[in-house]
Amino acid sequence: MNPIRHMAIIMDGNGRWGLKHKNSRNLGHREGLKTVEMVIKYCVKKKIKFLTLYAFSTENWKRPLKERSYLFRLLEIYLTEKLEKLNNEKIKIKILGEKKFYNKLNNLLDFAEKKTIRNTKLQINLALNYGSKKEIVYAFNKLNKRSKISENDINKNLYTKNIPDPEILIRTGNTQRLSNFLLWQAAYTEIFFEKKLWPDFKDKDLNKIVKKFSNIKRNFGKI
Ligand code: FPP
Repeated sequence: MNPIRHMAIIMDGNGRWGLKHKNSRNLGHREGLKTVEMVIKYCVKKKIKFLTLYAFSTENWKRPLKERSYLFRLLEIYLTEKLEKLNNEKIKIKILGEKKFYNKLNNLLDFAEKKTIRNTKLQINLALNYGSKKEIVYAFNKLNKRSKISENDINKNLYTKNIPDPEILIRTGNTQRLSNFLLWQAAYTEIFFEKKLWPDFKDKDLNKIVKKFSNIKRNFGKI
């Protein structure tokens, strides 16, 4: 049985789900939040220590203002309402990406990180304004005075420093690409592409993937 310390997810398909059901992409984002809650519960139950959720990419700034504002507001409401509960459950919140939203949200994200910093049950990494290439450039800029750079130097200067690489990466929404997510960290990750749209993704689907993962022989280049 392969242990899972870190599960990473590209939560794709909200927009299509919302359009299909009520002709509103934003409705899909709201519904997607229910799947986020399911996955958090699942990770706690299965003692998975790190969960990384791709919630807003550096490329997502190209979306219309109406959709961006809705997503930010959804996150703001979610954290305002749920932070106390997450903290009581010993869940740590960490933001991967530069906090360059509006002041109220930036401050709330800082507050959530500080409030939960000592929690050890589950660490939720919210990838927000996240781009893997940007993250790698950020790491190199921090290292630019060194003459020789090791893999470990890079690991220690990414947003994900002190976070183990994901064993498993799931992308819902029937699209097979990484979309600038954890390009360095996913070098040996098992990747699962799921046809279902994120709001339709249920715990039985997650269980199926975890079961498949546990049967994979992970050789890391050995035979
Ligand atoms: C991708 O689907 C999804 C997003 C860009 C946003 C994901 C956000 C949530 C699930 C809610 C976030 C809240 C928290 C607290 C993490 P898409 O819009 O690209 O879907 P499409 O491919 O069908 O257009």
